[in-house]
Amino acid sequence: MPDRSPAPRDKAGRTRFRVLVTDPVAEEGLEILRRTAGFEVDVRLKLAGPELKKALAASDALVVRSETKVTADVMPDGGRLKVVGRAGVGVDNVDVPAATRRGILVMNAPQGNTIAAAEHALALLMALMRNIPAAHASLKSGEWKRSKFVGHELYGKVLGVVGLGRIGGEVAKRARAFGMSVLGSDPLITVERARDLGVELIDLKALLKRADLISLHAPKTTETRHLIGAAELKLMKPGVRIVNCARGGLIDEAALADAIQRGQVAGAALDVFETEPLPATSPLLKLDQVVVTPHLGASTAEAQVNVSVVIAEQIRDYLVSKIVRNAVNAPATSPEAMGVVGPYIALAERMGRFLVQLTSGVPKRIIVEYRGEIAGRKFAGVTAAAVQGVLSVALQDRVNVVNALPLAKERGIAVNEGTNTEPGEFSSLVRITIATATETRYMDGTVIGKDEPHVVGVDGLHLDILPEGVMITFQNDDRPGIVGKVGTILGTHHINIAGLHVCRPTPGQRAFSIFNVDNPVSDQVARELSRLAELANLRVVTV
Ligand code: NAD
Ligand code: MLT
Repeated sequence: MPDRSPAPRDKAGRTRFRVLVTDPVAEEGLEILRRTAGFEVDVRLKLAGPELKKALAASDALVVRSETKVTADVMPDGGRLKVVGRAGVGVDNVDVPAATRRGILVMNAPQGNTIAAAEHALALLMALMRNIPAAHASLKSGEWKRSKFVGHELYGKVLGVVGLGRIGGEVAKRARAFGMSVLGSDPLITVERARDLGVELIDLKALLKRADLISLHAPKTTETRHLIGAAELKLMKPGVRIVNCARGGLIDEAALADAIQRGQVAGAALDVFETEPLPATSPLLKLDQVVVTPHLGASTAEAQVNVSVVIAEQIRDYLVSKIVRNAVNAPATSPEAMGVVGPYIALAERMGRFLVQLTSGVPKRIIVEYRGEIAGRKFAGVTAAAVQGVLSVALQDRVNVVNALPLAKERGIAVNEGTNTEPGEFSSLVRITIATATETRYMDGTVIGKDEPHVVGVDGLHLDILPEGVMITFQNDDRPGIVGKVGTILGTHHINIAGLHVCRPTPGQRAFSIFNVDNPVSDQVARELSRLAELANLRVVTV
């Protein structure tokens, strides 16, 4: 697993983050980054190949639209790159699994251009139905031909929307305003969402057979490549019209050109293509029934400002505060949920790091249990943080919230989650259990006040400590004088005690003690402490 090196610091000790921008994005977002202390923005458009790789290794973040191809071979194995921000929706120009393996977060700005793309799809649909581009060209060339350009109405037609997500949903609403009836096909949409949109949800085959017009709004993935191929085109009603304002590659362009030539398909309006820019030799360009635009779906002034500002803010917040929003390869936490769950993310990471240092052997299983209010929340990010904490002791900077769960899986460590909504002693409690071949240990933690992490139990013993800095833990006989002996040794070595907690099941039974100290504890001091006959299992833990 490659190392992600930290950003350098300036003379005053402040971190300097470099953000590389390789596609044109609105200035408004870049200005946000330039105005943030410690950030520099390096705009180098059209960077590719080895040059891009070199620049990425020296940058903490990359901002792209769809032109830059962020493939595995340009992603540095080491270097500083921590986050790729896509100013837009589709991340098919980014090798997301390769980024995940390298611990690089990939985020997008999914809402910023929804309306722009939906309106463009409708504009294409109307241009197609009313022959607007051809009529326009004819008049500009000096002709006045009215009968040649008789069109068709949207009113009363059946529109099939393939992909009823953000953009497909907006297209459906607008189509209903035109008096169309709308069919939808989407494997991940509930009947309730379809009903709210006024859409009849059916499977793709049925949609292809019934629709007069078809508009595609699915993402491009390995599963959706050529979603509309020769076989699907054959199922469609003769005279169907097709709009693709989603992604090139959803339609098999050669099969589409053939279906138009045969008259099966009356026309198509395309904003996106299998190869972009669309080669001048494309058969689609020769067909009068095809309307084309050069990937303009998101190209409105409003949308470009939206996505640029959103991606800039997300990159800033991730690099400065580790806040993850709109990540496509890390557990998603909404901004509202982040306010509640955020402090538990910090707590779980510390607890994981703490507990693994108390445990002997290699972790085989990590269990993260949620009790009380937090059990009713979306806590995937908390689990990832707990696993990150456990793995960080061995892997240090190479593990982060992006790759913690895949790394655990790769190493054969099972990760389980559990919930219990019953109210307990604390309003919310997180319990982390680590099982190795030889022992199973667990730790309880909670957040007190707004964001103070507290460990409130270890292996069933109640305590209350702040899991921070250097700590010395040990088991000891429950009798007078032991804390004094430990304090004397620490004092001799100028190690200041910041806090201490001794707990035991019942008086006289073996106790568990934790000292928070202000200074590092050398191996020699640890050996000296271990020689005290009353102590067992001494550990020096850094959280
Ligand atoms: P979204 O994630 O909100 O919606 C996509 C929907 O497609 C999801 O509901 C998903 O379940 C569905 N889907 C996945 N596989 C499917 C399949 N096999 N059949 C039917 N539905 C399937 O995304 P969005 O923001 O609505 O964007 C939709 C598409 O538009 C994406 O491809 C995006 O890249 C593209 N886009 C293009 C432009 C442009 O400039 N032309 C602008 C913005 C977005
Ligand atoms: C997107 O997916 O957001 C669009 O394709 C727009 C763009 O390329 O910026």
